[in-house]
Amino acid sequence: MTVSNRNLFDLTGSNVLLTGGGQGLGKAMALGMAAHGANVAILEVNPKTGEEAAHEIESVGVRSLLIVGDVTDEASATSAVNRVVDAWGRLDVLVNNAGFAILSPAEEMSVVDFKRVYELDVVGMFICSKAAFVPMAKQRHGVIINMASMCGMTVLLSNKHAAYNSAKASVIMLTKSLAVEWAPHNIRVNAIAPGYVNTPPVMKMGEEDPKRWAAMMSRVPMGRAGEPDELQGAAIFLCSRASSYVTGSVLVIDGGHTCM
Ligand SMILES: NC(=O)c1ccc[n+]([C@@H]2O[C@H](COP(=O)([O-])OP(=O)(O)OC[C@H]3O[C@@H](n4cnc5c(N)ncnc54)[C@H](O)[C@@H]3O)[C@@H](O)[C@H]2O)c1
Repeated sequence: MTVSNRNLFDLTGSNVLLTGGGQGLGKAMALGMAAHGANVAILEVNPKTGEEAAHEIESVGVRSLLIVGDVTDEASATSAVNRVVDAWGRLDVLVNNAGFAILSPAEEMSVVDFKRVYELDVVGMFICSKAAFVPMAKQRHGVIINMASMCGMTVLLSNKHAAYNSAKASVIMLTKSLAVEWAPHNIRVNAIAPGYVNTPPVMKMGEEDPKRWAAMMSRVPMGRAGEPDELQGAAIFLCSRASSYVTGSVLVIDGGHTCM
């Protein structure tokens, strides 16, 4: 066994590009990585929340960059990657976090809405990963973290969102495929699969129907939803030296929900 003084979770000097970092899980992960020394750029469609998040990241004592753009637009993704490389010299980590769900019984869902979910949750992820591959392959080093969901692994009786479930299942398979294809380039690709976490869209669900929310929570072995900060450890682990032999994995963070 090798003994090392170096902190396995130290991210000092790592340059991260994180999508959808203006609020929710993306913002929490960005702040967690920044607290461990990473510079974090945000590719966010909402300039207001993006700017606030970038200021908060800087206040941790690292560099930040707000790039206003849309992950589903190839030109936007390429220019975000180039801006990070131009500003900071290299891109070490891409966190594909931007994503959303549309709740609707399948038989009532329009094809347009079904495609919108896939466009953001799957196609946007592919677009950003492909853009990040260019500098990462050149550097012969890179880490990609994809936001999946427990919904990509199991169907929740309480939530009708077939498009989201199947899109998140695609995220898991995209993660594994890229992990295998890009391992020879020394690029690791992993996914995080959260259960319910208290971000604005999830909290809105709880506020709109407290009875249904209580029923949803009763199915979580830990009896509660997670807090966004509880995703920080996973993000730090997956982009740090602590996970140097981890690729193609899905880290489930769901209070035990998918055990049942
Ligand atoms: N909150 C949960 O319980 C939960 C559970 C499982 C998985 N997830 C996944 O985690 C991710 C984040 O979820 P959240 O709850 O924090 O959502 P959120 O809605 O709070 O945040 C999403 C962020 O992405 C940004 N965004 C949306 N479209 C974008 C685009 N085209 N380009 C760039 N940015 C865009 C939004 O402006 C927002 O800041 C999503 O992929 C979601 O599916 C969330």
